[in-house]
Amino acid sequence: MTETLAHRRVLLVIGGGIAAYKALDLIRRLRERGASVCPVLTAGAQEFVTPLAAAALAGERAHTDLFDRASEAEIGHIKLARQADAVVVAPATANLMARMAGGHAADLATTILLATTLPILIAPAMNVQMWAHPATRRNRAVLEGDGVRIVGPNAGRMAEPESGPGRMAEPNEIADALERMLGAPAGDRLLAGRRVLVTSGPTHEPIDPVRYIANRSSGRQGHAIAAAAAAAGAAVTLVSGPVALPDPPGVAIVRVETARQMLAAVEEALPADIAVFAAAVADWRPEQEAGSKKIKKDGTGPAPMPLVENPDILATIARRPSGRPPLVVGFAAETDTVVEHARAKIARKGCDLIVANDVSAEGGVMGGVDNTVHLIRRDGAVETWPRLGKDEVARRLVAHLAGLLAG
Ligand code: CTP
Repeated sequence: MTETLAHRRVLLVIGGGIAAYKALDLIRRLRERGASVCPVLTAGAQEFVTPLAAAALAGERAHTDLFDRASEAEIGHIKLARQADAVVVAPATANLMARMAGGHAADLATTILLATTLPILIAPAMNVQMWAHPATRRNRAVLEGDGVRIVGPNAGRMAEPESGPGRMAEPNEIADALERMLGAPAGDRLLAGRRVLVTSGPTHEPIDPVRYIANRSSGRQGHAIAAAAAAAGAAVTLVSGPVALPDPPGVAIVRVETARQMLAAVEEALPADIAVFAAAVADWRPEQEAGSKKIKKDGTGPAPMPLVENPDILATIARRPSGRPPLVVGFAAETDTVVEHARAKIARKGCDLIVANDVSAEGGVMGGVDNTVHLIRRDGAVETWPRLGKDEVARRLVAHLAGLLAG
C-alpha cells in the first residue's frame, strides 16, 4: 500500500452510532496510508467503542471532554481544531449533522467542528427514514453549502430490518474520499507553512438603507484561488465582499461589504507571504454616508449624488512601508490593449504581478466560469495562458506564485 496520506494529520470525530465500530477500522486504514490520527469521541460514541480502543489503534491519546484539564493545559480544544490537515466525522449521526448545521458547540466534538477552518469530510450513518427525513435533507444541504464534503451513505442491510441508504461508507471508501478532498499528495503541497491573503467578490457601497453601488463580480476567481492555496497547504484568509458562493474548504473567511471595511480586514489579516487582490472593489462611493432613511422621490427629478474615491487596497498594501507581503498580486479587468494597460497598472500600484483578464463582451469572464489571463511581471515579462476554467487558472496561479516565492 503506498502512503498516499503520508505526513497528513487527521482529526477523527467518532459519533455515537453502531457504525462507530467501523471508525476503529478507519483509524487502521488511515494509518496504513501514512496519516496520523487524533481521535475525538462524542459521549454517544463511547456507548459503542471505548476511548482506550481508539487510542490504542491511533497510537496516541483519544480526546473526549471539552473541559479536560490535561489537554487544556497541553494544547486546548481550539488548537486541536487547527493542528491537522482535515477533520473526518465518522459516523456522522443525524444528531451530529443537525448540531453541525446549527452551529452548536455543546461538547468537544461540536466545538472543534465549529472552531475549525480545516476541510471537513463526513460519513453519515443512520436509519433509512432518518436519512430521508426533510430535516436531515435540509441539514445536509446546509452543510454542503458550508463546504463540508460528504461520503456515502451506502445502501444495504443495516442494524434494523429496513434497507436503503443509511449505512456508513466503508473505511477504505472514506480514506479514498479524504485523499480526493486533500488533493495533491504532501510532496505537492507547494505552499505548506505559508500564509496567503486573498480578496474576492464585489464591494457594495450603500446609497441609503436599500440601495447600493456594486458590480458584476461573482467572486468565483478569488474564491478558487483561496481554495487552491489552501489545497497547496497554505494558511489562507479570504476577505470576501457579498457573493452567492459557498465558503471554500479549509479557508478562514472574513465577510465585508464596503471597500473601507475590506481594507481594514486586509490590514487585520496581515502578515502574509502572498497577497492576491482579486476583488472588484468599487472605485467610488457616495460622498454622503448612507443614513437610516430611504431617499424619496420628490417630483423634481433625481438628486445629485456626488461620489468620492475609495481607498485603493492593492496600492495601499503594495506601498506599505513595513510589513508588505513579499509577493503582492493584483488583477486587472480590461476590455482592450490588455497587456499595455496592465503594465501601466503595475507601475501605478506598486505590485509585483498583475493577472490581467479580458472582460470584453466576447470574453464572457464577468460572472462566467472560464477565464483567459495574461500574467504580467514587474520586469515586463508576459505569459499568456489559454482559455481555462477558473479553478484551473487558480491552480496554475498558485503553482506560479509558489515558484516565484521560492525563487
Ligand atoms: N483594487 C483595490 N482597491 C481598489 C480598487 C482596485 O484593491 N479600490 C485592486 C483590485 O482588487 C485589482 C486591481 O486593484 O487587483 C484592479 O485595479 P483597478 O484600478 O480597479 O483596475 P480595473 O478594475 O482594471 O479598472 P481600471 O482599468 O478602471 O483602472
